[in-house]
Amino acid sequence: MRRKIVVGNWKMNNTVAESETLAQDVLAALGEGFSGCEVGIAPTYLALEATERIIEGSEVQLVAQNCHYENDGAYTGEVSARMINAVGCSYVIIGHSERRQYFGETNATVNLRVKKALTEGLKVILCVGETLEERETGVTESVVTSQVTEGLAGILDIGAIVIAYEPVWAIGTGKTASSAQAEEVHLLIRTTITELYGEPAASQLRIQYGGSVKPSNAVELFAMPNIDGGLIGGASLNAADFAAIVKAAS
Ligand code: PGA
Repeated sequence: MRRKIVVGNWKMNNTVAESETLAQDVLAALGEGFSGCEVGIAPTYLALEATERIIEGSEVQLVAQNCHYENDGAYTGEVSARMINAVGCSYVIIGHSERRQYFGETNATVNLRVKKALTEGLKVILCVGETLEERETGVTESVVTSQVTEGLAGILDIGAIVIAYEPVWAIGTGKTASSAQAEEVHLLIRTTITELYGEPAASQLRIQYGGSVKPSNAVELFAMPNIDGGLIGGASLNAADFAAIVKAAS
C-alpha cells in the first residue's frame, strides 16, 4: 500500500511574513487529521528558513521549488541542492512545467538537477506532463515517456523519487484532467518505471497528479488506483482548501 503524498507548491507567491502566516494557518487547518498521508509545503527560496521554523516538529515537510546542479560558484540567481538541504528541506520539486516553459529547462538539465539533489540526500518530485498541443497531436505518451526516461537517466535510487504528472493544459487553468485521463497517464508512467526498474520498485513509486486540484475534485482523483496524491498550486494558497485536499488523500 503506497502512502499518499500531497504537496503545496506556493510558486512565486507570498513574502516571508505571508509565508509564515500561511504555514501557521496550514498547521491549524490540518490539525491531527492527516496521518494516512505525507504532506509538504514549498514556499519560495526566500521563505524556506522562516517556514521551517514554523513547521519544525510537525509532520509537515519543507519542500523547495527547484535547485541547481552545482554546489556553488558563478551561477547568479541560482540556489544549490546543498543549500536547500542545509535549510531543512526533505524534498525538491524538479522539472516543473513552468521551469521548462519559461526558464529553458530540458530533460537533460532536469536530469542533472535530479542527480545532484539525490547526491545531497534530498528526495525529488520529478514533474512531467504534456502541453495541450502535444495532447491534441496525439504525442502525450511519447512526450511523457521521454520526460521520465531522460529525467531519470543514470539514476539508480528510484526509492527517493516521486513523479508528479501535471498536464500543462490543466495547470492554473481551472481545467482538470478527468480522473480517467489522469489515470491513463499514471498507468503509462508506472509501466515505464516497471520497464526501467522492475516491478517491485514500480509498485512502490508514488505518482502525484497536479493541475487544478481542488477540494471538489480531489476525492475522485485520489480514488484512482495509480494516483498517489497531488501537487497543488493555486488551492494550496488557501489553508482550508489545502487541508481539505490533504484530508481527501488521508
Ligand atoms: P495548479 O498548479 O494547482 O494551480 O493548477 C499545479 C502545479 O503547477 O503544481
